[in-house]
Amino acid sequence: MTANLWDRAGRWLAFRIEAEKAHGLAIAALKTGSLKPRHPIEDDRLRATVAGLEFPNPIGVAAGFDKNAEVYGPLLKLGFGFTEVGTLTPQPQQGNPKPRVFRLPTDYGVINRLGFNNDGHDAAIERMMQTPSAGIVGVNIGANKDSDDRIADYARGVEKFASLASYLTVNISSPNTPGLRDLQTRHQLAELLDRVVQAMQQQPRQVPIFLKIAPDVTEDDLDDICAEVLAQKIDGMIVSNTTLSRSGLAADIGEAGGLSGRPVFDRSTIMLAKVRQRVGATLALIGVGGVDDTSTALTKLQAGADLVQLYTGMIYQGPHVAQSINRGLVKALDTLGLASIAALRDRAVDEWANRVLPD
Ligand code: FNR
Repeated sequence: MTANLWDRAGRWLAFRIEAEKAHGLAIAALKTGSLKPRHPIEDDRLRATVAGLEFPNPIGVAAGFDKNAEVYGPLLKLGFGFTEVGTLTPQPQQGNPKPRVFRLPTDYGVINRLGFNNDGHDAAIERMMQTPSAGIVGVNIGANKDSDDRIADYARGVEKFASLASYLTVNISSPNTPGLRDLQTRHQLAELLDRVVQAMQQQPRQVPIFLKIAPDVTEDDLDDICAEVLAQKIDGMIVSNTTLSRSGLAADIGEAGGLSGRPVFDRSTIMLAKVRQRVGATLALIGVGGVDDTSTALTKLQAGADLVQLYTGMIYQGPHVAQSINRGLVKALDTLGLASIAALRDRAVDEWANRVLPD
């Protein structure tokens, strides 16, 4: 069976199963190590050095797929250049009542309101200590829903994972923990980033810190966020998490939660370009939201991203999506006569930043 046929057959089967159960089966399949690309794409032109880290290719797995650090090794073997475990909170928590993940096949989207269900810091640390990774594995940290001091939860995340992670992501943009996104307002953000940076400075091993933001922040808030990131010497930003908007859906299913996949592509790409305009050329940016093929990945790079992540694209395009995107990127570099992924960056920042955000 060709990879493509396998993907389509696998998707046909997976879509007959409730979304969260199908995800559990995908994790189980990855654990067995049976999924691997036959011809991994290795090309020096795909390499990128970002925030001091050397990525074999620019396509990564976004947070939320491997919440509990169970399958980062097998994901890297599928051809991803990096992966991000989490979101992990200090204490384990169950998240919201099920069902809480919904596919929107007409729109190639997903709505989730999981609410940071995860096994907690210690379980993930144990797994990561048992299985050191040869590749780049970031850890995405968050706060417990019932925490008395959410900022302290992030500082703990830094203390616990600085020795194990390739980089850390401070996630303040999940729409499914009430009040979490308020940490994006200037005063709270300044305090949060200050505490996180201080916690990192006290660690024997320093790793880059990224801030992951929502695509729903206002222009004024975006000004404040970018100014704080630059002031506090954060290494980069991830743009973006899921959206609360339902704009442009062909078939809204009326479920609450964060929307991902193709419906968030325009919004997250516009936000990415607006961020690139505000932070200048040197800050590392990861573009995420609606990437599922070479063309969408190229657009993110041209709109200001150094690297790209995806999650929903893997649900619709199958486990070989990274390999197929990377193959396409090599072809694009050939056609354009470019020597590296970095040369693609920023070609369309102004064009995307000037687009009107959907409602
Ligand atoms: C997510 N996402 C997410 N992000 C995060 O920072 N922490 C998390 O725990 C999760 N969990 C999660 C679960 C599910 C089911 C989905 C679909 C998404 C958001 C994800 O990392 C990404 O930012 C968005 O989904 C947009 O990218 P895609 O999915 O359109 O490629």
